[in-house]
Amino acid sequence: MCNRYLWSPEPRPDGHDRRLARVVPLADVGCNAGIAQEEMLRVSAETLTVVDNRTGERYEVPIQDGTVKAMDFRRMRTSADDFGLMVYDPAFTNTASCRSEITFIDGDAGVLEYRGYPIEELAEKSTYLETAFLIVHGHLPSAAELKEWTHNITFHTFVHENVRRFMEGFRYDAHPMGVLVSSVAALSTFYPDAKDVDDAASRDLQTWRLIAKVPTLAAFAYRHSRGLPYVYPDNDLTFAGNFASMLWRMSESSYVASSVIERALNVLFILHADHEQNCSANAMRAVGSSRPDPFVATAAAAAALYGPLHGGANEAVLLMLNEIGDVRNVSEFVKHVKAGERRLMGFGHRVYKNYDPRARIIKATADEVFDVTGRNPLLDIALELERIALEDDYFIERKLYPNVDFYSGLIYQALGFPVEMFPVLFAIPRTAGWVAQWREMVTDPEQKIARPRQVYTGARGQKYVELGRR
Ligand code: SDX
Repeated sequence: MCNRYLWSPEPRPDGHDRRLARVVPLADVGCNAGIAQEEMLRVSAETLTVVDNRTGERYEVPIQDGTVKAMDFRRMRTSADDFGLMVYDPAFTNTASCRSEITFIDGDAGVLEYRGYPIEELAEKSTYLETAFLIVHGHLPSAAELKEWTHNITFHTFVHENVRRFMEGFRYDAHPMGVLVSSVAALSTFYPDAKDVDDAASRDLQTWRLIAKVPTLAAFAYRHSRGLPYVYPDNDLTFAGNFASMLWRMSESSYVASSVIERALNVLFILHADHEQNCSANAMRAVGSSRPDPFVATAAAAAALYGPLHGGANEAVLLMLNEIGDVRNVSEFVKHVKAGERRLMGFGHRVYKNYDPRARIIKATADEVFDVTGRNPLLDIALELERIALEDDYFIERKLYPNVDFYSGLIYQALGFPVEMFPVLFAIPRTAGWVAQWREMVTDPEQKIARPRQVYTGARGQKYVELGRR
C-alpha cells in the first residue's frame, strides 16, 4: 500500500502567480502502475520531505518564498478524526502573516527600504509627504501627483468642531497618547462612508483624512495637555510647518518654524513612516481584517504603538536617562540591566540584529537640532550607554543595538516636547504606514479575517457546583 503523498504544484486557476499544492495520494495515481516510484516521487528541490514518525507517513511540502504553508501540515494526522498538525509560534517570532511590497528590512545588514528606496536617500532628499505618497501608492510621485496629493492632504487637515469639544472632555493631565487613540476612533463616528472598504475612491478619501487629521488631533492633544487654546491648521504651510504652527503658535498671526526644525521634523517623520509587520502594523491588519472602517483600525494600531516595548519606548528612554541622571551612574545602571533587573530602553529589536539604520540618521540629525535648540545634556548619558553596550558581551551576544527610539526622544525633548508627547510624534508619521498596510491587506485575495488557533491547556468536563456547595 503506497502511503506516500505527492504534492503536485499547479498554477492557480485564477492565473495568480502563487502556486497551490494539492495532495495526490499515490494510490490514486496508480503508484502500482509500474511507474518508477522515484520518478513519481520526483519532487522539486523546493520542498520539505516530512516524515511523521507517529505514522511513518512521508509528506512533500512545497517551499515558496522561503516559507512553508502552515495549512500544509494540517494533513499530517494520526487518524481520520485527528485535527491535524498546527504550527505553534507565540508572538509570531517566525511567522509570515502576509505578502507585502511596502517595506523591506534586512535585520542582519541593518537595511531599511520603503518600496525599494533606501531610507538613507529618502531621509536626505525627500519630504515626509512625498515619502507618504511613495509608501501608500508604491512609486515616487510625479510633480502633478505630488501637487494633487499635497492638496488632498492639506484640504483635510480640519476636524469637525464636535471632535474639538470631545477632546475638551479629557482631564487636564490626560496622557496625549490616550487622547489621540480615543480621538482617532471618534473620527469613525463622523465618516460612516468609511465603512465601504471595498471602494477604491473611499479608501483614497479615508487615506487623505487620516494622514491629514492625525497631526491636527496630535497638536490639539498637546495644546490640551498644556492648557493652551487649540491652534487650527494653517493650510498655507507645509505638512511639517503646519504641525509646528498648531503646536507652538501663540498670539502671532502666523507661525513659521525654523528651517532646521522643519527639516528635522521631516527627517524624523520619514524615518518613522513604516516598518513592515511591527506590532502596530499587525494590529492594523488584524483589526482591519474584520473590515471595519480604517479609523477604528488606526486607533487600534495607535493603541499598540503606545506600549513601552513598541513606540512608547522613546518616552521610556527619556525616563530612563533622567533616572540615571549622570554619566557617572551609567555603569551601575548597566549592571542592573545585565542582572536582568532592568531593560535598556531604546536598545534591541525583533528584526534588527545590527545597528538600526534609523538610529544612525537620528543621531546625526540630533546634532543639527542641538545647534538651534542647545545641546541636550542627557545626550552625554545616552552616548555613554551606547559606548558601554557596544563593547559589552552581554549586549553583543544578544545583538542589542540602539533602535529608532534611543535618540529620537533627545531631539523631541530639545524641541520642547514633554515626554508624554513622544509616542504621539511616532504615531503621526506611522499613520501613512498603517494606512498603506491596511490598503494592501483589504485588497489582497489571500487575506481573510485574522483568527489564530490555540493550544488548549485548560480543564475539560467540569460539572457545575451550586454556590452553597462550593
Ligand atoms: C520599535 O517591530 C518593529 O519594527 C518596531 C519598531 C517600528 O518601527 O515599528 O522598530 C519600533 O518598537 C522599536 C523597539 C522599541 N522598544 C524598546 O526599545 C524597548 C526595549 N527593547 C526590548 O524590550 C526588546 O529588545 C524588543 C521588544 C524591542 C524586542 O524584543 P524581542 O525580539 O522579543 O527580544 P526578547 O525580549 O526575546 O530579548 C531577547 C534577549 C532576552 O535576553 P534572555 O532572556 O535571552 O537572556 O535580549 C534581552 C532579553 O532579556 N533583551 C534586552 C533588551 N532587549 C532584549 N535586555 C536588556 N535591554 C533590552 N532592551
